[in-house]
Amino acid sequence: MIYKGNLEKNCENFSGIRMRTFVCNILKGDPCEVIKEEADFCTMIFFLSSFVRKDIEEILKKINKIIKKGGLILIRDYGLYDLAMIRNEKKGNMIEENCFRKGDGIVVQYFSKEGLRELFVGMNYEEVQNDYCTVERENKKTGVNLSRVFINAKFRKK
Ligand SMILES: C[S@@+](CC[C@H](N)C(=O)[O-])C[C@H]1O[C@@H](n2cnc3c(N)ncnc32)[C@H](O)[C@@H]1O
Repeated sequence: MIYKGNLEKNCENFSGIRMRTFVCNILKGDPCEVIKEEADFCTMIFFLSSFVRKDIEEILKKINKIIKKGGLILIRDYGLYDLAMIRNEKKGNMIEENCFRKGDGIVVQYFSKEGLRELFVGMNYEEVQNDYCTVERENKKTGVNLSRVFINAKFRKK
């Protein structure tokens, strides 16, 4: 979700002619009430991981209606066996395969390349890119090495 007000106020190159912004709770609303098959692309940056599998399928059906043929869906999100996933697994927070509910109630989904591919190919998208991206970070305070796993993917609507 792009914060409509922030984008219009803080981005000097913002053009209301080239870009339309609106706020949408994707679980309750439907963006196709505002635009239909017009979007060239949709970025989902640490977005899909906020939902359980059933909701992801419904969200993607809605997004599909606003993407034009040849349009792209660009994803960066949490990947399978990310450090945080292993920690959640140890705490017994799993609510469905590869999906956890944290102590604060927030849902976190961890994606495999195969799982993402299945979602999009099933909706008639072609895979352009679908890779794990591993990042090693050291916690300077504790000296502990943090192995983060993210997924970068790009799917094109056929
Ligand atoms: C983990 S945050 C990622 C925020 C940001 N993309 C980033 O990388 O810093 C998950 C984001 O998903 C969006 N989101 C969560 N639930 C949503 C909903 N029901 N409808 C629309 N967007 C939602 C919110 O914008 C929320 O900030």
